[in-house]
Amino acid sequence: MEKTILFPQIAGFVHGGDYNPDQWLDRPDILEEDVSLMKKAGVNCVTLGVFSWAALEPVEGEFHFEWLEEIVENLYQNGIYTVLSTPSGARPAWLDAAYPEAMRMSARGVRDHHGGRHNHCMSSPKYREMVEIIDRKLAQRLGSHPGVILYHISNEFGGECYCPHCAKRFREYLAERYDHDIEKLNHAWWTSFWSHHYNSFDQVEPPFENGERSVMGLNLDWKRFTTWSTNDFMEHEIRVLHSVTPDVPVTANFMRLFGGLDYRKMAPSIDMISWDNYPTYHNDWGTLEDTMVETAFQHAVMRSLKRGKPFMMMESAPGLVNWHRVNKLKRPGIHRLSCLQAIACGSDTVQYFQWRKGRGSYEQFHGAVVDHLGTDDTRIFREVAEVGDLLQKIAPAAGTLVQTRAALLFDWENRWAIWDVKALGEQTKRYEDTCRNIWETFFGLGVDMDVVGSDENLDQYDLVVAPMLYLLQPGVAGNLKKFVERGGQLVATYFTGYVDENLLCYLGGFPGDGLTDLFGVISEEIDSLYPTDRNAVVFPDGKQWEVKDFAEILRVKDAKVLGVYGSDFYEGTPAVTCKEYGKGKAYYVAARCEGKHMVPLFEQMMADAQIPVRRLPQGVECHVRSGEEGTYAFYLNAREEETKVPGVQGLDLVTGSRVEGELTLPGYGVAVVSV
Ligand code: GLA
Ligand code: ZN
Repeated sequence: MEKTILFPQIAGFVHGGDYNPDQWLDRPDILEEDVSLMKKAGVNCVTLGVFSWAALEPVEGEFHFEWLEEIVENLYQNGIYTVLSTPSGARPAWLDAAYPEAMRMSARGVRDHHGGRHNHCMSSPKYREMVEIIDRKLAQRLGSHPGVILYHISNEFGGECYCPHCAKRFREYLAERYDHDIEKLNHAWWTSFWSHHYNSFDQVEPPFENGERSVMGLNLDWKRFTTWSTNDFMEHEIRVLHSVTPDVPVTANFMRLFGGLDYRKMAPSIDMISWDNYPTYHNDWGTLEDTMVETAFQHAVMRSLKRGKPFMMMESAPGLVNWHRVNKLKRPGIHRLSCLQAIACGSDTVQYFQWRKGRGSYEQFHGAVVDHLGTDDTRIFREVAEVGDLLQKIAPAAGTLVQTRAALLFDWENRWAIWDVKALGEQTKRYEDTCRNIWETFFGLGVDMDVVGSDENLDQYDLVVAPMLYLLQPGVAGNLKKFVERGGQLVATYFTGYVDENLLCYLGGFPGDGLTDLFGVISEEIDSLYPTDRNAVVFPDGKQWEVKDFAEILRVKDAKVLGVYGSDFYEGTPAVTCKEYGKGKAYYVAARCEGKHMVPLFEQMMADAQIPVRRLPQGVECHVRSGEEGTYAFYLNAREEETKVPGVQGLDLVTGSRVEGELTLPGYGVAVVSV
């Protein structure tokens, strides 16, 4: 396996973050100090230009790149590289005043006022034109500077616009999708219901809040359109930059499981995946371990958006954020732990929002490496500098990959479909939590699963989990059959294969599209339970799994029944089944059970897939990155107490000493063992 170094210029990990010198242009003393502090903190890269439009073009047509050029050059002279951002994430006031069409319309059709950020119309020709002008100039002035290693497109894309431009493009999008045949749309959206029939594409409107929201196909296509339109905007920016500097790679920063955009559709348009990571450490609803494991899942989602390449943790808070419900400080040691976790999960960067706290406005109290105090002797600065040091020590691991033989299928479109479907229980659908719970359970057994789309290539996997795959994309059923046929271990759950990509129910039995053959079962009814209702799956050995929220009543065709319901009118009927199919096995779990109950099944699947179970001491998490030059096992201790991990051999790059059999991790300690 080749090394996949993201940035050859930095032959190791990137350490840095968002730097906003445009807020300090009248303080050259501070700008000078920034560079020396960056060196002390072990920063080798900063992100410049996010939201700098007003400083770059203070009035229409008057450009000022000189300040930015000077800073990029000065940083470069000091060994610090630049991620150069396009300024399109926020618009200057003059632009909105001159071209109101750049401002979004809400779901009630009301035009926004100027303000905030990220809230422009993706379809507005004028906004695209203005963005094109400034992006081109930016690329011309700075794109080929040796210090610039990456373009960062806009910032955290998201949101919808219901303006006439967007409505028109939506109709064009639909016409394209349905071959310019309105009857195809009518069929796909089942518009014979409630007299929703359209005579032409011109009659279709976006799902206005005070308009049409009862056609599920329309709602889903609108979400698809919003992703398409945002991506189209992003690609417009990329085209402009690449027309000037074709060799500078691009990224756009994503936000966890953000629900507004299907990141999997956007990933191919960018060269590397980056995301902004702000966990709620030390909250009052879970342990630190819970927060850590949840974050590991989020990293796995991002990592899997581009398999075969490290990703970037583009933003994280050095101390605290200012927008959580409660903005709690990261306790001493947590900064290092969380940064190392990102690296352990496959990131090649540790980047912060923000380098220095601004004096005023919305984010003046958001954590930063340099506080208002302005010195390097703060706790946060020291912890950041320590991470800088640590990243140097573990630099050989840069470019290696987390490689796994197990995957969880997670689809944005399936997610949207489940959110919108009028069925189940409103509060209990919880698709994301269900996926995460299963991922975390496997993680507890030592499996660092990828999280991939249902229609992706599964060749590298031997074990696949497909929770609540309600919507089947074309080809998915065939894909799953092929996977099991060649020896894969597959488990699906209740609420699988009810609808096709247009949200039309399969006829002739769920799970549809031929999956009843794969699993050997048909789901005849689904029971939704009230939050306090419980049932159970009972196994022949007397073991029981608790059932809550959902229970399907099955007809078994040719699967083996492993467990049956313990109560209610379907007591004794099949709840967990297994069918041998080709060389593999297809399990069906017809009811909602917590991951912890399903461990025996998961262990069986792992045994059949020859994936060893590894249980670590409570609070310890392990991720393995490997490449041609080595394998590195990252151990993280999410507990305040020291702990010992048995079965570890190798050189710990953090301490520089060899581990012979037992690794001692201090409280919140980390180890990177080269094996
Ligand atoms: C986001 C944005 C940043 C900043 C941070 C604050 O991730 O991209 O510009 O607002 O949040 O946490
Ligand atoms: Zn619009």
